[in-house]
Amino acid sequence: MSLSPQLRRLWRDVTLFDGLCVRPAPMTVLVEDGRVVGLWSQGEFDEHQAEAAIECGRGGVMTPGLVDCHSHLVYAGNRAGEFEQRLEGVSYAEIARAGGGILSTVRATRAASEEQLVEASLPRLDALLADGVTTLEIKSGYGLSVADELKMLRVARRLGQLRPVRVLTTLLGAHALPPEFAGDSDGYIALVCNEMIPAAAAEGLADAVDVFCEHIAFSPAQCERVFQAAQRHGLALKAHAEQLSNQGASALAARYQGLSADHIEFLDEAGVQAMAAAGTVAVLLPGAFHCLRETQLPPIELLRRHKVPMAVASDANPGTSPICFPTLVLNLACTLFRLTPREALSGMTAHGARALGRPDLGRIEVGSPADLCLWDIQQPAELAYAVQPGRLRQRIFKGDLTHAC
Ligand code: NIG
Ligand code: FE
Repeated sequence: MSLSPQLRRLWRDVTLFDGLCVRPAPMTVLVEDGRVVGLWSQGEFDEHQAEAAIECGRGGVMTPGLVDCHSHLVYAGNRAGEFEQRLEGVSYAEIARAGGGILSTVRATRAASEEQLVEASLPRLDALLADGVTTLEIKSGYGLSVADELKMLRVARRLGQLRPVRVLTTLLGAHALPPEFAGDSDGYIALVCNEMIPAAAAEGLADAVDVFCEHIAFSPAQCERVFQAAQRHGLALKAHAEQLSNQGASALAARYQGLSADHIEFLDEAGVQAMAAAGTVAVLLPGAFHCLRETQLPPIELLRRHKVPMAVASDANPGTSPICFPTLVLNLACTLFRLTPREALSGMTAHGARALGRPDLGRIEVGSPADLCLWDIQQPAELAYAVQPGRLRQRIFKGDLTHAC
C-alpha cells in the first residue's frame, strides 16, 4: 500500500505513559493516518521505518490525550454569589432547596440562545484543550424542558465541530425539578422518559443518559424509570451517585449495566461490589469535593481492593466545580483522595475512556487512535505534582498537530 508522506509523523526519545503504565525506556512513536502504527524502545528501531515521516519532536513525556469523562461545560451565567454564600456557611443543599444552585443556572441557560451558549462555552473548552483534553463528555441538565435540553445537546455537538476534540454528549434531564413541575416530580420524570429521551435519541443528540439520584434531586425508583427508558432507546447509562448521601444509586446503575457511577463519596462496600461485578467505572470528581469543602472521602481503598477502575474528571460546572484545568484535577485527586499520580493519570486517560464506553481511547498502543499529548516535563508524575499551566508542548488529535509551542 502506498503511504501518503505528510500523514506519517514521528517522535523520538519520549518517556511514554500508555494510559496504564509508564514504559521503562524512552520510546519512538510513529503515527500514520490518524493511528499509532509503531512503538519502539531504543535499539528496536530501524531507521528505514522512519522513511517519509515528519520528525515532530524529541524528548519530553508523551501521554494519551486526556479524557475528561464528566463535565457540564455548556451553561450561561455564573454562581460566584453562591460561592460567597457557601463560604459564609450556607450548604449546597440549602441553596438548592431555596431555588438557587442548579435552578439558578437553569434560568440563565433557558434565557440564552444556542449562539450565546456556544460563545459562553468556547473559552472553557479552549482552556481544557490547552491543558491536553482530546475527548470530553458534556452533559445537558440546565434546560429541564424538552426544547432546552435538546438546545444544550445541540450546543455540545456544535462545540465538537468547532474545535479539534471528540465530544460525547449525555442527556441529564433528571438533574433537578424545574419550577413548573413543583410538587410533581413523578410528572417530570414521565416527561424525561416519554418525551425527552425519545426526542434526544431520535435526533441522535445523546450518547448516554445520566441522573442525579439524591435527596435534593430524584429517588432511586425515579432514576430506575429513567434507566429503563434509556435502555429502550439504546442509550448508555450513568449516574450522579452517592454525592451527598448513600441512596444505593451506584448499585442501581450497576444493575442496569451503567457505564459509570460518579462522585460516590458515600458509596458503601455493597455498592462497590455491585460495580465490580458489572464493570461499572467509579468516576472521582475531586474538584467538586474541594469546592464544596466536603469531608466524606470516596472509598478509594475498597475500590482498589475490588478492582473497580477509577476515572478522574473535571466535573466542570458553574456550581460545584468551576474548574477547567484538568491537570489541577489530577493534583486534587492525589492530594485529596490519595490516588497515586499513576492512578490519577490512568483515571483521566484509559479509565476515563472506559467510563464513556470508549475503551479504544485513552491508550497508546499500536492501533490506537492518535490522540496524544507531548509535555515539557521529565516524568509523568509531574503532571499531578505541579499545578502549572503551559507544559503542553504538542497536542495531537486524530494524528494532526493541533497545539504546537
Ligand atoms: O456534578 N451534583 C449534581 N450536579 C453537578 C452540579 C451542578 C450544579 O451545581 O450546577 C455536579 O456536582
Ligand atoms: Fe456532575
